[in-house]
Amino acid sequence: MSVARVVLLHLFLFVACAQGRKGIGGTEQDWGYITVRPSAHMFWWLYYTTCTDVSNYTDRPLIIWLQGGPGMPSSGYGNFLEIGPHNSSFYKREGSFVDNFNVLFVDNPVGVGYSYVSDSATKLVTNGAEIGEDLYSFFKVFITERHPEFKNVPIYVFGESYGGKMATEFVYALTQKRKSEKVNLCNLKGLALGAAYISPMDYVNHYAPLALNLGLVDKRGFTRIDELTKQIQVLINKKEFEKAHDTQNTITDWLCFETFGIDLYNILAKTNATRIPQVWDYKPLFENIMNNEVRETLNITANVTWKFVGDDVYKSLKPDVIKSITHKVETILNTTDVKIIVYNGILDFLVNTAGTISWLDGLKWQGRERWFNASQSALILDEVTEGYSKRVDNLVFYAVLRAGHSVPIDKLPVVNEILRLELLN
Ligand SMILES: *[C@@H]1O[C@H](CO)[C@@H](O)[C@H](O)[C@H]1NC(C)=O
Ligand SMILES: *[C@@H]1O[C@H](CO)[C@@H](O)[C@H](O)[C@H]1NC(C)=O
Ligand SMILES: *[C@@H]1O[C@H](CO)[C@@H](O)[C@H](O)[C@H]1NC(C)=O
Ligand SMILES: *[C@@H]1O[C@H](CO)[C@@H](O)[C@H](O)[C@H]1NC(C)=O
Ligand SMILES: *[C@@H]1O[C@H](CO)[C@@H](O)[C@H](O)[C@H]1NC(C)=O
Ligand SMILES: *[C@@H]1O[C@H](CO)[C@@H](O)[C@H](O)[C@H]1NC(C)=O
Ligand SMILES: *[C@@H]1O[C@H](CO)[C@@H](O)[C@H](O)[C@H]1NC(C)=O
Repeated sequence: MSVARVVLLHLFLFVACAQGRKGIGGTEQDWGYITVRPSAHMFWWLYYTTCTDVSNYTDRPLIIWLQGGPGMPSSGYGNFLEIGPHNSSFYKREGSFVDNFNVLFVDNPVGVGYSYVSDSATKLVTNGAEIGEDLYSFFKVFITERHPEFKNVPIYVFGESYGGKMATEFVYALTQKRKSEKVNLCNLKGLALGAAYISPMDYVNHYAPLALNLGLVDKRGFTRIDELTKQIQVLINKKEFEKAHDTQNTITDWLCFETFGIDLYNILAKTNATRIPQVWDYKPLFENIMNNEVRETLNITANVTWKFVGDDVYKSLKPDVIKSITHKVETILNTTDVKIIVYNGILDFLVNTAGTISWLDGLKWQGRERWFNASQSALILDEVTEGYSKRVDNLVFYAVLRAGHSVPIDKLPVVNEILRLELLN
């Protein structure tokens, strides 16, 4: 059963609330709910590309965007702060992904954003495999019933932060079922991982040396983080994953406190001596617009409160957060033709570039030796060096200069250049 699906397919959103505001209206879109399990309803929001170089939107790829957390909805942060057609005051965003691609935001997993369960006995997901299953169920209905015109359109699944893990689980489920059940739902082309939390320990292992080398802590601070890091590894070895994650939170909380609020998402961001990371500044704003203007415009009648981060989903997934899924990345590389595009802002402390390089180097796949040998090239845009890239077969990695955790927020033109190189060539 599909719940509260909007009947009008091609609406001009925000026309009503656009009055007096420049540059909005005209972005065609569709949205609705798909029930992925009994009483578990997943919200999706599709924007058709506004690209005028093609006669039909199906001539451009479809990007599926998954947010992290776990517990953060794509419909808010990713859409209004990063890549969607409007900013959070509903003005047109220059360089939105929608300029060149169709974009589908999914509030995932169920329990996040506008997605909800209609029966309190319905379980929230507890691990990555369940996330992959629900996303698969969602997408099966989306592409066969809601938007079959995307059946042959190239599809790229993007995930940011913890969303990178979810994107990987989704692609893993899609490719496994393609093989085992011989169903090919779609024309899956790629998986894009931005500051993706694929192998948490690779990130945590760099906290102590990074903090010391950046001058954020002294030797005493280094020792404190280093000891906690060792404890985390011991807890993981004992399979006490939730405690391991708690200890990781102890490190980041302690670091925030000791450094008077260094922004772990972008070490160059202006720090606030209240020691609350900047990202939380958006919470009241987003909870306001998403539960009022946006909700009314979309006519969301479900009994659901949009939250910046879904605590219940976070709690339910907590034991899974610290687990590595590099073996799933390996399987995708080993057994499919899916291109994997990894990118990281070098100013991200939390999901640091050093950690990403570390798990990429550790991958066991047919390109492993060549990966070590491959040299990196510069990513140049308008004569400015914006980053570096390295490529072997279907794996490519970009390190982006002057960017933190959410690379599109800091360097949208550079991300667009990466999209041009990887998705349109
Ligand atoms: C909003 O959705 C409800 C059903 O959920 C429907 O009855 C109503 O007509 C819709 N309103 C508009 C303006 O589309
Ligand atoms: C949205 O864009 C408009 C026009 O560029 C700008 O005036 C406004 O400050 C932006 N809003 C936010 C929240 O960034
Ligand atoms: C766009 O392409 C789709 C899928 O190929 C097709 O069903 C649809 O009719 C096309 N629309 C237009 C306006 O040509
Ligand atoms: C510091 O953070 C607090 C809490 O998020 C906020 O109210 C305040 O405006 C911030 N101050 C500056 C200077 O950014
Ligand atoms: C809406 O949900 C809240 C909390 O989940 C519940 O307490 C309330 O009874 C629900 N309201 C309706 C009209 O179902
Ligand atoms: C992928 O292939 C490599 C050999 O090229 C192998 O060592 C590795 O175990 C494989 N990974 C998985 C998850 O099967
Ligand atoms: C790696 O580079 C070395 C030295 O250039 C070369 O001898 C070797 O064959 C290369 N190995 C692979 C797997 O490309």
